[in-house]
Amino acid sequence: MIKHILAISGSLRNTSSNTNILKACAALAPDGVKITLYEGLDKLPYFSPELDGEGAVPVVAVQDLREQLKKADAVIFCTPEYAFGVPGVLKNALDWIVSSGEFYDKPTAVISASPLATGGDKANASLVQTLTVMSAIIKEENKLPIPVVRTKMDAAGNIIDKELETALVQVIRSLV
Ligand SMILES: Cc1cc2nc3c(=O)[nH]c(=O)nc-3n(C[C@H](O)[C@H](O)[C@H](O)COP(=O)(O)O)c2cc1C
Repeated sequence: MIKHILAISGSLRNTSSNTNILKACAALAPDGVKITLYEGLDKLPYFSPELDGEGAVPVVAVQDLREQLKKADAVIFCTPEYAFGVPGVLKNALDWIVSSGEFYDKPTAVISASPLATGGDKANASLVQTLTVMSAIIKEENKLPIPVVRTKMDAAGNIIDKELETALVQVIRSLV
Protein backbone atom coordinates (compact mmCIF):
# COMPACT_ATOMS: atom_id res chain seq x y z
CA MET A 1 0.00 0.00 0.00
CA ILE A 2 1.39 3.37 -1.02
CA LYS A 3 1.28 5.93 1.77
CA HIS A 4 4.35 8.04 1.31
CA ILE A 5 5.51 9.57 -2.00
CA LEU A 6 8.76 11.47 -2.43
CA ALA A 7 8.51 14.36 -4.93
CA ILE A 8 11.69 15.42 -6.73
CA SER A 9 11.87 18.58 -8.82
CA GLY A 10 14.54 18.98 -11.49
CA SER A 11 14.61 22.77 -11.03
CA LEU A 12 16.44 24.75 -8.36
CA ARG A 13 14.59 27.99 -9.19
CA ASN A 14 12.68 29.60 -6.31
CA THR A 15 9.64 30.18 -8.49
CA SER A 16 9.98 26.97 -10.50
CA SER A 17 6.84 25.85 -12.29
CA ASN A 18 7.98 22.23 -11.90
CA THR A 19 8.38 22.58 -8.13
CA ASN A 20 5.02 24.34 -7.94
CA ILE A 21 3.40 21.43 -9.77
CA LEU A 22 4.80 19.05 -7.17
CA LYS A 23 3.48 21.31 -4.39
CA ALA A 24 0.09 21.17 -6.10
CA CYS A 25 0.36 17.35 -6.23
CA ALA A 26 0.96 17.34 -2.46
CA ALA A 27 -2.29 19.24 -2.00
CA LEU A 28 -4.15 16.90 -4.39
CA ALA A 29 -3.03 13.68 -2.68
CA PRO A 30 -5.89 11.51 -1.40
CA ASP A 31 -6.44 10.96 2.33
CA GLY A 32 -3.81 8.70 3.83
CA VAL A 33 -1.19 9.57 1.20
CA LYS A 34 1.56 12.06 2.01
CA ILE A 35 3.69 13.68 -0.72
CA THR A 36 6.96 15.16 0.58
CA LEU A 37 9.17 17.46 -1.46
CA TYR A 38 12.85 16.48 -1.60
CA GLU A 39 14.92 19.59 -0.95
CA GLY A 40 18.50 18.38 -1.10
CA LEU A 41 19.26 18.44 -4.83
CA ASP A 42 21.69 21.37 -4.54
CA LYS A 43 23.47 19.81 -1.54
CA LEU A 44 24.72 16.79 -3.48
CA PRO A 45 28.35 16.84 -4.60
CA TYR A 46 29.21 16.06 -8.19
CA PHE A 47 29.07 12.30 -8.56
CA SER A 48 32.30 10.38 -8.95
CA PRO A 49 32.61 6.61 -8.48
CA GLU A 50 35.70 7.35 -6.36
CA LEU A 51 33.55 9.21 -3.80
CA ASP A 52 31.21 6.24 -3.60
CA GLY A 53 33.49 3.22 -3.67
CA GLU A 54 34.82 1.06 -0.89
CA GLY A 55 36.75 3.08 1.71
CA ALA A 56 35.19 6.38 0.61
CA VAL A 57 33.98 8.72 3.36
CA PRO A 58 30.16 8.61 3.34
CA VAL A 59 28.58 11.83 2.03
CA VAL A 60 25.78 12.95 4.36
CA ALA A 61 23.66 14.51 1.59
CA VAL A 62 23.87 11.30 -0.44
CA GLN A 63 22.98 9.15 2.56
CA ASP A 64 19.98 11.42 3.14
CA LEU A 65 18.78 11.09 -0.47
CA ARG A 66 19.15 7.30 -0.36
CA GLU A 67 17.34 7.15 2.98
CA GLN A 68 14.46 9.31 1.73
CA LEU A 69 14.14 7.15 -1.39
CA LYS A 70 14.24 3.94 0.66
CA LYS A 71 11.45 5.20 2.93
CA ALA A 72 9.27 6.32 0.03
CA ASP A 73 6.70 3.87 -1.35
CA ALA A 74 6.72 5.76 -4.66
CA VAL A 75 8.42 8.72 -6.33
CA ILE A 76 7.11 11.57 -8.51
CA PHE A 77 9.51 13.60 -10.62
CA CYS A 78 8.66 16.91 -12.23
CA THR A 79 11.44 18.36 -14.31
CA PRO A 80 12.18 21.07 -16.82
CA GLU A 81 14.00 20.28 -20.05
CA TYR A 82 17.38 21.94 -20.55
CA ALA A 83 18.84 21.86 -24.08
CA PHE A 84 16.64 18.86 -24.96
CA GLY A 85 17.84 16.90 -21.93
CA VAL A 86 17.43 16.33 -18.19
CA PRO A 87 18.92 19.19 -16.08
CA GLY A 88 22.42 18.31 -14.88
CA VAL A 89 21.52 18.69 -11.20
CA LEU A 90 18.85 16.01 -11.51
CA LYS A 91 21.00 13.63 -13.55
CA ASN A 92 23.76 14.09 -10.97
CA ALA A 93 21.37 12.98 -8.20
CA LEU A 94 20.36 9.91 -10.22
CA ASP A 95 23.99 8.98 -10.86
CA TRP A 96 24.43 8.65 -7.07
CA ILE A 97 21.58 6.11 -6.99
CA VAL A 98 22.72 3.83 -9.82
CA SER A 99 24.91 1.64 -7.61
CA SER A 100 22.80 1.78 -4.44
CA GLY A 101 19.64 0.71 -6.26
CA GLU A 102 16.84 2.52 -4.40
CA PHE A 103 14.72 2.69 -7.56
CA TYR A 104 14.52 -1.08 -7.88
CA ASP A 105 10.78 -1.94 -8.23
CA LYS A 106 9.81 1.60 -7.10
CA PRO A 107 6.52 2.86 -8.60
CA THR A 108 7.53 6.14 -10.25
CA ALA A 109 5.84 8.96 -12.17
CA VAL A 110 7.70 11.22 -14.58
CA ILE A 111 6.20 14.66 -15.19
CA SER A 112 7.89 17.42 -17.18
CA ALA A 113 6.67 20.99 -17.61
CA SER A 114 7.73 23.57 -20.15
CA PRO A 115 6.52 26.92 -21.47
CA LEU A 116 6.91 25.34 -24.93
CA ALA A 117 4.32 23.21 -26.70
CA THR A 118 6.52 20.12 -26.39
CA GLY A 119 6.07 19.94 -22.61
CA GLY A 120 9.71 18.95 -22.20
CA ASP A 121 8.98 15.62 -23.90
CA LYS A 122 12.63 14.87 -24.67
CA ALA A 123 13.73 15.35 -21.04
CA ASN A 124 10.71 13.27 -20.00
CA ALA A 125 11.69 10.41 -22.32
CA SER A 126 15.32 10.60 -21.24
CA LEU A 127 14.40 10.53 -17.55
CA VAL A 128 12.11 7.55 -18.17
CA GLN A 129 14.99 5.76 -19.89
CA THR A 130 17.42 6.42 -17.02
CA LEU A 131 14.93 5.34 -14.37
CA THR A 132 13.95 2.26 -16.36
CA VAL A 133 17.54 1.07 -16.49
CA MET A 134 17.55 1.55 -12.71
CA SER A 135 14.51 -0.81 -12.55
CA ALA A 136 11.88 1.75 -11.56
CA ILE A 137 8.30 0.82 -12.45
CA ILE A 138 6.85 3.50 -14.75
CA LYS A 139 3.41 2.86 -16.19
CA GLU A 140 2.41 4.59 -19.44
CA GLU A 141 -0.19 6.69 -17.57
CA ASN A 142 2.53 7.90 -15.22
CA LYS A 143 4.43 9.73 -17.96
CA LEU A 144 3.07 13.27 -18.28
CA PRO A 145 4.63 16.09 -20.32
CA ILE A 146 2.86 19.40 -19.55
CA PRO A 147 2.97 21.85 -22.49
CA VAL A 148 2.60 25.67 -22.25
CA VAL A 149 2.77 25.46 -18.47
CA ARG A 150 2.80 29.23 -17.91
CA THR A 151 -0.78 29.53 -19.19
CA LYS A 152 -1.86 26.92 -16.63
CA MET A 153 -0.57 28.57 -13.47
CA ASP A 154 -1.09 31.98 -11.89
CA ALA A 155 1.71 34.31 -10.76
CA ALA A 156 1.70 32.72 -7.30
CA GLY A 157 2.26 29.25 -8.81
CA ASN A 158 -1.26 27.90 -8.30
CA ILE A 159 -2.77 25.71 -10.99
CA ILE A 160 -5.58 27.52 -12.81
CA ASP A 161 -6.19 24.86 -15.47
CA LYS A 162 -8.79 22.23 -14.57
CA GLU A 163 -7.51 19.74 -17.17
CA LEU A 164 -4.02 19.89 -15.69
CA GLU A 165 -5.40 19.40 -12.20
CA THR A 166 -7.37 16.36 -13.38
CA ALA A 167 -4.30 14.94 -15.15
CA LEU A 168 -2.25 15.27 -11.94
CA VAL A 169 -4.97 13.63 -9.86
CA GLN A 170 -4.97 10.73 -12.36
CA VAL A 171 -1.18 10.35 -12.14
CA ILE A 172 -1.30 10.25 -8.33
CA ARG A 173 -4.24 7.86 -8.35
CA SER A 174 -2.54 5.51 -10.79
CA LEU A 175 0.66 5.62 -8.75
CA VAL A 176 -1.20 4.85 -5.54
C1 LIG B 1 19.57 26.52 -19.84
C2 LIG B 1 18.14 26.36 -20.27
C3 LIG B 1 17.83 25.50 -21.30
C4 LIG B 1 16.49 25.31 -21.68
N1 LIG B 1 16.21 24.40 -22.66
C5 LIG B 1 14.91 24.08 -22.89
C6 LIG B 1 14.57 22.99 -23.75
O1 LIG B 1 15.41 22.33 -24.33
N2 LIG B 1 13.25 22.68 -23.90
C7 LIG B 1 12.26 23.38 -23.24
O2 LIG B 1 11.10 23.02 -23.38
N3 LIG B 1 12.55 24.44 -22.45
C8 LIG B 1 13.84 24.80 -22.25
N4 LIG B 1 14.15 25.82 -21.40
C9 LIG B 1 13.07 26.63 -20.82
C10 LIG B 1 12.54 25.99 -19.53
O3 LIG B 1 11.58 25.03 -19.89
C11 LIG B 1 11.89 27.07 -18.67
O4 LIG B 1 12.88 27.96 -18.22
C12 LIG B 1 11.14 26.46 -17.51
O5 LIG B 1 10.35 27.43 -16.92
C13 LIG B 1 12.07 25.88 -16.49
O6 LIG B 1 11.34 25.20 -15.50
P1 LIG B 1 11.12 25.79 -14.03
O7 LIG B 1 10.11 26.90 -14.16
O8 LIG B 1 10.59 24.65 -13.26
O9 LIG B 1 12.45 26.28 -13.53
C14 LIG B 1 15.48 26.05 -21.03
C15 LIG B 1 15.81 26.94 -20.00
C16 LIG B 1 17.12 27.10 -19.61
C17 LIG B 1 17.44 28.03 -18.46
